[in-house]
Amino acid sequence: MTTATRPVVAVDRAGLREALEPIRAHGRSVALVPTMGALHAAHVALVRRAHELADAVVVSIFVNPLQFGPAEDFARYPRDLDADLAVCARESVDVVLAPSVEAMYPVGEPLVRVHAGPVGDVLEGEARPGHFDGVLTVVAKLFGMVGPDVAVFGAKDAQQIALVRAMVRDLDIPVRVDALPTVRDADGLALSSRNRFLDDGGRAAALALPRALQAGTVAAADGAPTAAVVAATRTVLADEPGVAVDYVALVDPESFQPLASQAGGFDAGTGVDRDALLVVAARVGGTRLIDNAPVTMRPPVRVRGSAT
Ligand code: PAF
Repeated sequence: MTTATRPVVAVDRAGLREALEPIRAHGRSVALVPTMGALHAAHVALVRRAHELADAVVVSIFVNPLQFGPAEDFARYPRDLDADLAVCARESVDVVLAPSVEAMYPVGEPLVRVHAGPVGDVLEGEARPGHFDGVLTVVAKLFGMVGPDVAVFGAKDAQQIALVRAMVRDLDIPVRVDALPTVRDADGLALSSRNRFLDDGGRAAALALPRALQAGTVAAADGAPTAAVVAATRTVLADEPGVAVDYVALVDPESFQPLASQAGGFDAGTGVDRDALLVVAARVGGTRLIDNAPVTMRPPVRVRGSAT
């Protein structure tokens, strides 16, 4: 008896077509896990989720130059294909798509790109101009190449997921987008390929991010208004000298607009709960980290006749 060797590794469109052909021929559904490699436990969680959602799992490994600015860490972004393939083999991934930049963009930089629109211009998009256009362009290409039934993303990149969902809706791309809650180390740090750039001191400092989100979440649960939730989050970050804050915001999970700027003001005493996302970005040494926590905001019910 021969044992099938998994995963099949495809490095271009032809290889991918060949790898997918038997899967499609048997009418098996496909889940795509798009990654930039340097796979860690959070990617493993995505792959396991993908196995739950579809018959076959495709993992793409591609460090996409389009989503890095000129001063960003494209060159030093961690790459270790052999280690990634070992992870994929352990996790019974069916197909790995690992194209070179030339295979992915055969005519050079694409002339036509997906534009992320206004949600792509705030927070991460403001800090990293063009980032989300690059992300959506490569994700649209991956959807076109693989044709998955479902694609699985991690919730740590919340703005990315909101934009991928918006792209799928607005461009009628027939794929379901699934988001897996952020996977954290035992100490609370959200898993990220960039964590490997942190030395011991940097890692200790980075723990201020989950601590800050926790403080903000507790403030929200206590019924604090938006400004107080943001302030509670900022206070924890300000106490950690190793952390340089880029932004802290309490936003609508779809529009990524600050809750405080919503029409009528969120704290206006409507008494209606609403879901929000507390988002942070900060630099620890040369490493930029992002994290977020979902919160339910509970504005006070304004009692008729009471002082405001
Ligand atoms: O989240 C990532 O790793 C990347 O942004 C993605 C979705 C693989 C696109 O390059």
